[in-house]
Amino acid sequence: LPKAIKIKLHEKDPASIQLRKFGDSSDTNRGTRVRVFGRVHRERKQKDIIFITLRDGYGQLQCIINAPLSKTYDMLTLTRETSIEVLGEMCEVPKGNNAPDDRELQVDFFKIEPEWKAAGGEDAITNRVSADTEHATLLNLRHLTLRGDTASSVMLVRDTVEFAFNQVYRELKIRKVSPPAMVQTQVEGGATLFKFDYYGEPAFLTQSSQLYLETCLPSMGDVYCIEKSFRAEKSLTRRHLSEYTHVEAELDFITFDDLLEHLEHVMCRVLEVTLADADTAAHIKKLNPDFKMPERPFMRMRYSDAIQWLIEHDIPNEDGEPHKIGDDIAEAAERKMTDIINRPIFLTHFPVEIKAFYMMKDKEDKTITESVDCLMPGVGEIVGGSMRIYDLKELSEAFIREEIDPTEYYWYTDQRKYGSSPHGGYGLGLERFLAWLCNQHTVRDTCLYPRYFKRCKP
Ligand code: 4AD
Repeated sequence: LPKAIKIKLHEKDPASIQLRKFGDSSDTNRGTRVRVFGRVHRERKQKDIIFITLRDGYGQLQCIINAPLSKTYDMLTLTRETSIEVLGEMCEVPKGNNAPDDRELQVDFFKIEPEWKAAGGEDAITNRVSADTEHATLLNLRHLTLRGDTASSVMLVRDTVEFAFNQVYRELKIRKVSPPAMVQTQVEGGATLFKFDYYGEPAFLTQSSQLYLETCLPSMGDVYCIEKSFRAEKSLTRRHLSEYTHVEAELDFITFDDLLEHLEHVMCRVLEVTLADADTAAHIKKLNPDFKMPERPFMRMRYSDAIQWLIEHDIPNEDGEPHKIGDDIAEAAERKMTDIINRPIFLTHFPVEIKAFYMMKDKEDKTITESVDCLMPGVGEIVGGSMRIYDLKELSEAFIREEIDPTEYYWYTDQRKYGSSPHGGYGLGLERFLAWLCNQHTVRDTCLYPRYFKRCKP
């Protein structure tokens, strides 16, 4: 067999892969001979020619199979998703035709091992997942729908975004730690705790790594983690999962303004790093053609002004009544407001009674907290953060107010005994960030195998 270089399909560099010019058959203009492994993403059979779109997770390649190869048994019975090895010459696409990355492979050899063949007939993948398949069935077949164009693009963007968070935190000299998932303290209220038996003692799956991050400040400086958080959300919404990826950071010796500026920087820089990757930028362009980098500074809006805004725009609260101070701004109202304003919003200074026990009160008004939610059009809240109470007495009072037994929190309160400091942090829901960036209707489509109310498979 003539020599060929083994490639993955992201290798598009014209210096390493030369394309034979269309219509030019001179020997001096040979295309690079390559060898590619992948799966049949689509196939179209014409009289003597078979067009295959090959997919290898890195890209797609149009492969042209001419006679006599197109007349072989394996080609005549070729099914979608079959694994295949192809060899041939890389060529330009004839004028007026379209192919991924404007190139095609003129195949002169292929191999399909018996085990590589995908089921056909009744059991063909196209009969199991199609545009008409019921929603519930599609969810049970997530392992197959992941192979689709949209799902795989979202997962590829996710990979780059998660990496970008790591890069940006490294640029800021913020250290990565890995707090435990099995804990005995709640962070965001008892209602959404997943309880389990831990060798005879009650324990929970963590709702947030925040408290543990706070304990790292004295020894490591600013820290972050990208870990799973768990919430027993007993309702079906398009932005609540039972298990989600939580990007959390904690910053020492900062003010509330520092926190907001840092958040803006991290989000914008992560987008910059993500879009600098050409393949990822192409996926985002396809998923969300109207995506624009958010303008800085983000809009700042106090909770009390948001309540006023909702009243003026006739957007009622959950009981169908006009909003009033003290109301939790529910998902629907929040999204309506964000969609109308249509830019990122830092919603700040929520009342003490609707926020978590650990939040620092405002210096001028003790009824409100130094807290922030970042809201994005199409999704609503994607970040929740605050300054933390760092005075031991004030923290003890907060435990009493929220009826939390402080005993289990001895390790958290100790931070206030041994060199406390003004500090704050936040948590960003990776699936929500991706739903916004990739223009997906629900966070269920921005994670690999979504876990939510009553769904724990596949
Ligand atoms: O606002 P939350 O509950 O804040 C915390 O957990 C803080 N302890 C974080 C911190 O300060 N370190 O959650 C933070 C973010 C939300 O803005 C949202 O993006 C995401 O986590 N989130 C969820 N994402 C998917 N499904 C759920 N059930 C989520 N609950 C929260």
